[in-house]
Amino acid sequence: MGGRFITFEGIDGAGKSTHIEALAQHLRQRGERVVCTREPGGTPLAERLRELVLHAPMDPLTEALLVFAARRDHLQHQIEPALARGDTVLCDRFTDATFAYQGGGRGFDLAVLAQLERWVQGERQPDLSLWFDIDPDIAAQRRAAARPADRFEQQDSAFFARVRAGYALRQQAAPRRVVRIDASGERDEVWRRILDVMDARAW
Ligand code: TYD
Repeated sequence: MGGRFITFEGIDGAGKSTHIEALAQHLRQRGERVVCTREPGGTPLAERLRELVLHAPMDPLTEALLVFAARRDHLQHQIEPALARGDTVLCDRFTDATFAYQGGGRGFDLAVLAQLERWVQGERQPDLSLWFDIDPDIAAQRRAAARPADRFEQQDSAFFARVRAGYALRQQAAPRRVVRIDASGERDEVWRRILDVMDARAW
């Protein structure tokens, strides 16, 4: 039996990263083996591609190809072997982010992204994707209090409104896999909502 594959999504500043660690701890306490990883990244090659995607100017097609190239390496060398061992994989962003950022944010062709998705992933999809949804203006305030901005974080709120709409489309297309979490509240409130989603699946 394979392990579970859970991804964490949302616009920059939605606050997903703190909850990945919390969920990892929670599952480990219950005796599960958990691998925490991220995209773009998660392997030495994919982390090098991440540096380029986050900091080097490039056109939307190049950006899409690089995130999928990173994803391919990550799936082959990290995600698939972990799932085959029966580990639970928690991944900070995955393909929904490509549809949201390159598709929604940059306006890149969704049909081409869907083709790349099939090419790179075959049938592989997360078992659950937690979409941390938040108003772009609140997210911008949270980001301003954090660290220096990368190429995406420098975008204006219209960009993040399009990214958010991109996530909403993915949620509508796969409502059982993608669960919207209202990320506007206090951290503990959001954490409760995550536990409710896990309970609802008897996980
Ligand atoms: P993020 O996950 O927010 O990491 P950190 O918390 O360290 O900033 O940053 C990754 C960025 O990459 C984010 O702005 C979204 C972008 N991204 C894409 O544009 N497409 C993708 O497919 C993925 C996975 C990420």
